[in-house]
Amino acid sequence: MSEPDQTTHFGFRDVPLEDKQTLVNSVFHSVAQRYDLMNDLMSAGLHRAWKDIMVNTLNPPRSDRPFALLDVAGGTGDIAFRAAKAAGTGFRATVCDINADMLQVGRDRAAKLRLGNRVAFVDGNAEELPFQGNSFDGYTIAFGIRNVPRIDRALGEAYRVLRPGGRFLCLEFSTVEVPGLDRLYDLFSFNVIPPLGRIVTGDAESYRYLVESIRKFPKPVAFADMIRAAGFSRVNWQTLSGGIVALHSGWRL
Ligand SMILES: C[S@@+](CC[C@H](N)C(=O)[O-])C[C@H]1O[C@@H](n2cnc3c(N)ncnc32)[C@H](O)[C@@H]1O
Repeated sequence: MSEPDQTTHFGFRDVPLEDKQTLVNSVFHSVAQRYDLMNDLMSAGLHRAWKDIMVNTLNPPRSDRPFALLDVAGGTGDIAFRAAKAAGTGFRATVCDINADMLQVGRDRAAKLRLGNRVAFVDGNAEELPFQGNSFDGYTIAFGIRNVPRIDRALGEAYRVLRPGGRFLCLEFSTVEVPGLDRLYDLFSFNVIPPLGRIVTGDAESYRYLVESIRKFPKPVAFADMIRAAGFSRVNWQTLSGGIVALHSGWRL
């Protein structure tokens, strides 16, 4: 269904809702090859700790009990690989992403890590997942949901594809509210990350979008309300690193 009159944010720009996904796709097409390196440089490696906390919270079984994880906007596979390493032999992950370039980097990494038989890569849009309902025990989305034009649709799809008893986890940049750290974080975000992006990927604009999009994402309380509105129960969140990141969770009961 088209909604031609609606606008949304692409970073600090207002753009027609229909155009956001194309703009987002061009960002990740441009940065895919150096995406993982940039994550380490931008966060001084902290993204690894945040992702480990997400996987520890997911706590996939370490046994041969079957557990199917769907990692949406999973890009180059970081969450799925971490979960596969933490889990037992019954674990399988599907990485779903809208961007073929990011998925290809992920497939190559899976082959190098010898995880190709436990982690599958599928092209798909978070707003319209190419999976049947009640198919997964866990749904994760890390640093992905703020890129999706219609977040409510993505949350509805998360609920649909999870089995009753399934866990929803979302790791996303949030709002720094520690006095002093907030100003430092702004200085770093706007003055260091885009120039670093230019040096490493040849593309400052994509990283300007990424830092602007963080500022436009709803605060934890508002995002928790959106998760509840999609049908999830026992919705909760924790902030990490002074609020740089928030990990939201919910259950499909
Ligand atoms: C910042 S990356 C995160 C990748 C990975 N989850 C991680 O934490 O390293 C955001 C990802 O969201 C994907 N994405 C953007 N819009 C999407 C959509 N509508 N459906 C699925 N994936 C989407 C992008 O292609 C990109 O791979």
